[in-house]
Amino acid sequence: MGGTTLTTEWTIREVLNWTRGYFEGAGIVQPRLEAEILLAHALDANRLHLYLAPDKPLTIDERSRYRSVVQQRRSGTPLQHVIGEVSFYGLRFRVDRETLIPRTETEELLDQVIQLAPRDREIRCLDLGTGTGVIAVCMARYLPMAQVTAVDISPAALQVARENAKLNEVEDRIEFIESDWFSRVEGKFDFIVSNPPYISTEELDGLPREVREHEPSVALDGGTDGLEKVRAIAAQLRTHLRPDGVVLMEIGHDQGARAQEILENIELADVSIERDMAGKDRFVVGRCLS
Ligand SMILES: C[S@@+](CC[C@H](N)C(=O)[O-])C[C@H]1O[C@@H](n2cnc3c(N)ncnc32)[C@H](O)[C@@H]1O
Repeated sequence: MGGTTLTTEWTIREVLNWTRGYFEGAGIVQPRLEAEILLAHALDANRLHLYLAPDKPLTIDERSRYRSVVQQRRSGTPLQHVIGEVSFYGLRFRVDRETLIPRTETEELLDQVIQLAPRDREIRCLDLGTGTGVIAVCMARYLPMAQVTAVDISPAALQVARENAKLNEVEDRIEFIESDWFSRVEGKFDFIVSNPPYISTEELDGLPREVREHEPSVALDGGTDGLEKVRAIAAQLRTHLRPDGVVLMEIGHDQGARAQEILENIELADVSIERDMAGKDRFVVGRCLS
């Protein structure tokens, strides 16, 4: 469809079959699924509609919208950027090239926060490096007594996070602060949660082109050994955790032992490394006793 001209009518089924082959040839890992998501987007419908009306022909406008999104995807733009949104922990979030595309591991990080956090008393939660705001917004949505602070060094990311708070109707429960980690943050928190940049600078070049060229390096670059940002955050944790306050951070799969040492060196208690669903070290957790 991309290079060829559509002279006859194309039905939903035909368009999807064609795109699957086109995407397969481009090395896209889930060609049929992505074709469905893009077509639903171009038709402003949900994917179920595609199954309910497979023989419906596309109008000229629909074909033209679909062709445009297929070409963007084919040329390497991440699917989430093409459609401009992502689903995370049951909620919808806007995403653009100023923000990291939220990953499933971060949903697991949030799972742990939701399990640990009390619901029967007011708590203060901090999301360091909020990006699209997924962690902050989900904490506000799923922890009804939480007052949330969301921090990012990138004003453009904060703008997206604010929009996402509005989209999910929690803007009155989140304070957004442009800050270099804790530099403009005041007070103490019951939960400090972060998915900091944790890819070592050396490894950045080896990331897939889609990530390298479309996601902001400020969201990825964890410095020489990947743990520079974790160290920078750890240096201020004791000042900002309430007694019995908990920190949870996402880390690289090969950083468990070193991340554990970083938190033990600042004398947090109960420091543990938790694994993700793939069985890899992925989260470091610690508690501040006093
Ligand atoms: C890995 S992304 C995480 C985004 C989002 N929390 C998520 O999990 O999808 C890291 C975020 O940290 C932010 N960041 C990087 N350096 C920072 C700093 N010194 N202070 C505050 N935020 C920073 C980046 O702008 C980016 O949004």
